[in-house]
Amino acid sequence: MKILVTGGAGYIGSHTVLLLLTNGFEVVVLDNLMNASIESIRRVEHLTGKKVSFIKGDIQDKTALTSLFNEHAIDAVIHFAALKAVGESSTIPLEYYQNNVHGTLCLLEVMANLNINHFIFSSSATVYGGENAVPYEESMPLGEASSPYGASKVMIERVLKDLAQSNLDFRAVCLRYFNPIGAHESGQIGEDPKGIPNNLLPYVAQVAVGKRERLQVFGDDYSTQDGTCERDYLHVMDLAEGHVAAVNWLQKNSEFTGVEAFNLGTGKAVSVLSIIKAFEQASQQKVPYTIAPRRHGDLPAFWANAEKANKQLGWRATRDLTQMMTDTWRWQSNNPEGYPK
Ligand code: NAD
Ligand code: UD1
Repeated sequence: MKILVTGGAGYIGSHTVLLLLTNGFEVVVLDNLMNASIESIRRVEHLTGKKVSFIKGDIQDKTALTSLFNEHAIDAVIHFAALKAVGESSTIPLEYYQNNVHGTLCLLEVMANLNINHFIFSSSATVYGGENAVPYEESMPLGEASSPYGASKVMIERVLKDLAQSNLDFRAVCLRYFNPIGAHESGQIGEDPKGIPNNLLPYVAQVAVGKRERLQVFGDDYSTQDGTCERDYLHVMDLAEGHVAAVNWLQKNSEFTGVEAFNLGTGKAVSVLSIIKAFEQASQQKVPYTIAPRRHGDLPAFWANAEKANKQLGWRATRDLTQMMTDTWRWQSNNPEGYPK
């Protein structure tokens, strides 16, 4: 089977490409490299001993997409390409809607023209909003997105639903990720954020390696066990396995039509202070921190009910917090500046 992976040079994309290759899939990557380095693909090829067909291009370029699909007989598309910084999305919302929503529409339009009907979409726990009770379940209504980034995910899920209703051959899976962290156990590929990291783990790792002085813990007065926010962190290799399981599920269930959503999380919530402690233990480094005010838009605690993915996809997150921390540290200490620029 041949899979097109959009955004395959990025953090989650590169780990998924690696796993697809080791599972015998052929992979074509389309990435405009706006938030990635081609070095991730080189390293994936080196680790697997297999070739990736890499195309530098934009999902909004319908001509390039058409020639890509004409050149490669693509069986399914895994669609990671997106802008993903929540805070930035409120500053430049039009870029987010343009890139994420319009870009996805371009991709879907070209796929529809060429009768390519299998689609796996990178959605997010953010689609549940603040209204739903925890743990989040797929049957819950989508919430009020708290940022243009979140709204772009909600909109695309809606587009997929409408498309599937209009075309019974179209079959899609929305994978709702909780908080992916960690890196491939080789320490050769991992998360390489540009500028100041927005997310917790890359920030913690950069403090531990001496790149940043101290972490700010955003709020310690939440109604949680230790007062700091709790999230469902999962290892990026478990997440990558979820994508392989979704591709296999689409292949196997040929009678399925429509769109199916699956939560990918561990089902457990971990606090910010517990993350710091676990990281210090795994890395044997100090992570100095101060308590700062709450971050606007943060929810106290959310985690997944991941039973549906377990029952239907046969998927479960198996890597524990220690492994998530050890692998993050291996990547960060081997590559303190990320990929060579
Ligand atoms: P990333 O930025 O590392 O990867 C995205 C990739 O897409 C990058 O390589 C970027 O260069 C590419 N890209 C962006 N716009 C493009 C375009 N118009 N055309 C071609 N390529 C383009 O991000 P990631 O963390 O790997 O996230 C992958 C997907 O998962 C995104 O859709 C993101 O919204 C979603 N997601 C991520 C998280 C997370 O915590 N990382 C959580 C939930 C959902
Ligand atoms: C954020 C996004 C969410 C997105 C997810 C994955 C917000 C409000 N939500 O989720 O939409 O799907 O990333 O990309 O931005 N923290 C600190 N100090 C830091 C950084 C984070 O204390 O320097 C805390 C946060 O307050 C939060 C936890 O760490 O409680 C995790 O933060 P983060 O990694 O940004 O993920 P989310 O907030 O869950």
